[in-house]
Amino acid sequence: MCGIVGYIGEKSAVDILIEGLSMLEYRGYDSAGVAVYDNGALDVRKKKGRLDMLRQLLEKEPVQGTMGIGHTRWATHGAPSDENSHPHTNGAGTIAVVHNGIIENYSRLKEYLGAKGYSFRSQTDTEVLAHLIDHYYMGDLLSAVQDALRHVEGSYAICVVSKDHPGEIIAARKDSPLVLGSGQGENFVASDVPALLKHTRDVYFLEDYEVARVTREGIDIFDRYGIPVEREVFHVEWDVQAAERGGYPHFMLKEIHEEPKALQDTLSPRINAQGDLNIEGLGLEEEAVRAVRRIVIVACGTASYAGQVGKYVFEKSLRIPVEVDLASEYRYRDPVVQEGDLFLVISQSGETADTLAAMRLAKARGARILAITNVVGSTISREADAVMYTWAGPEIAVASTKAFTTQLLCIELLALHMARIRGSMEQAQWQALFAAVQAIPAKVEAMLEAEDTVKRCAHRHSNVSDAYFLGRNLDYPIAMEGSLKLKEISYIHSEAFAAGELKHGPIALIEEGTLVLAIATQKELYEKMASNIKEVKARGAHVLAMCPGDAALILDLADEVIELEDTQALLTPLISVIPAQLLAYFCSVERGYDVDKPRNLAKSVTVE
Ligand code: G6P
Repeated sequence: MCGIVGYIGEKSAVDILIEGLSMLEYRGYDSAGVAVYDNGALDVRKKKGRLDMLRQLLEKEPVQGTMGIGHTRWATHGAPSDENSHPHTNGAGTIAVVHNGIIENYSRLKEYLGAKGYSFRSQTDTEVLAHLIDHYYMGDLLSAVQDALRHVEGSYAICVVSKDHPGEIIAARKDSPLVLGSGQGENFVASDVPALLKHTRDVYFLEDYEVARVTREGIDIFDRYGIPVEREVFHVEWDVQAAERGGYPHFMLKEIHEEPKALQDTLSPRINAQGDLNIEGLGLEEEAVRAVRRIVIVACGTASYAGQVGKYVFEKSLRIPVEVDLASEYRYRDPVVQEGDLFLVISQSGETADTLAAMRLAKARGARILAITNVVGSTISREADAVMYTWAGPEIAVASTKAFTTQLLCIELLALHMARIRGSMEQAQWQALFAAVQAIPAKVEAMLEAEDTVKRCAHRHSNVSDAYFLGRNLDYPIAMEGSLKLKEISYIHSEAFAAGELKHGPIALIEEGTLVLAIATQKELYEKMASNIKEVKARGAHVLAMCPGDAALILDLADEVIELEDTQALLTPLISVIPAQLLAYFCSVERGYDVDKPRNLAKSVTVE
């Protein structure tokens, strides 16, 4: 949440800051601002609303200079307003700060500073930091930031500039990501790699409690005690095009269309020259796999539904118990970590605050952590004991699509790997599943051909006020994911139910014309789903079914059908989620919403 960019070099800072912020808008977009050093002063421009509002302000009131910081906000403390936008400054306007995170002890600090005569203009926790740095400032900006941060509790990624230090940006982090980009005669700071890709792919990842001094000539990193740290430069492989819309009207549609390639890129490195499954380097060699007694999966949002799919896949193929928990619940329920647990963390960004905290808790209790993540260098990737990357490339749209399907693929590959070692699947069954996994990218490609059909469905139904998704077994997590997608970007009220639970309450919601989306891919459960469809139809529901062409029972009953590509039972989530993603997308477009930046949401949730 919140995007930060900093630039120091020879070029016009404001252009680089605005361009960087536009790549980070997915982190928050309720206000934006910049502070640029120009001729002995810091010029601050900030505005409530999308980045375009700031652009318009800058046209009227331009700023010049070659050093500055910028911010795009997702409000926590203080409603979105011009005043609450970042950067925040000290009273004299000589120090400016942008911040991502939450200063938890800000009221106490505010009281302390208030007693010393400081006055406040905003409701934010960040403004306190600007005054606190001022309070400690004795002529050295780096020391002032270090001193101030010693008194701060909570999470932060910050950039600080001062009119008295035109040659440096001070950056620091704790529990919120910050990347330092290295250039020739210019250097950069950003919350996330996409903001830097146009300028450099050589980056340093700042660690918790570290503070950096970024000048035109170089980057110096110091640990929490002020001792210089040697950090190896990391070369990012993502290319610039991957973080651009490339002719698509929205990132979300582009990312849905990238799914076949993302899946292939995730699959290929795990197949060796002999065409065999080859998963190495995860600490899951024979002995370790045999020692697993339970799998515990923790994640948030869409990634947690990948975890729910994992429960069905691992239990079925490995015959060991699997627990799936939301990270925000896990971290506060005094969880039991046992010998023989395999602890799986799933996170696209690798930065989600709750997921990170849950992982740290499990680790502190002795669990060995395997992370499935998309972002190389992310905090979770660095702190986990082992990482299985989804090679989906940058995912920019807030609604997760290709990250989800590649997470599912990693789960399937892990299950195959472990099942072979444990001998928990028959050889022929294993071979068939492995072959089917390799066919998945092509099946997903074929599934994308249903785009026009889905678009027509969206056109017919985008005006509904409620939609209910039903599914059993592996279709249940996809019902939940489909429902989440629909509500987050089209704002249609939507819920998902395990179809067997209908009669225990949810069926009371069904009335004439209610839209029910029934996902039915599990052949042995077609009859059960057919009964559920009959039950809702008898109460007036309009049923849109998503099922393979052989599901005659379902096809006969449904009012409309989106036909799914056929595949092995354990792999169906990779197929059935595609039309669910497209449906949410087209409903949002039909309703005229900003698909990539849905209201109130942010892609990377780095605060609790
Ligand atoms: C946010 C995003 C979701 C995502 C969730 C978890 O809510 O909007 O799309 O699923 O965070 O994010 P992670 O990066 O940990 O997968």
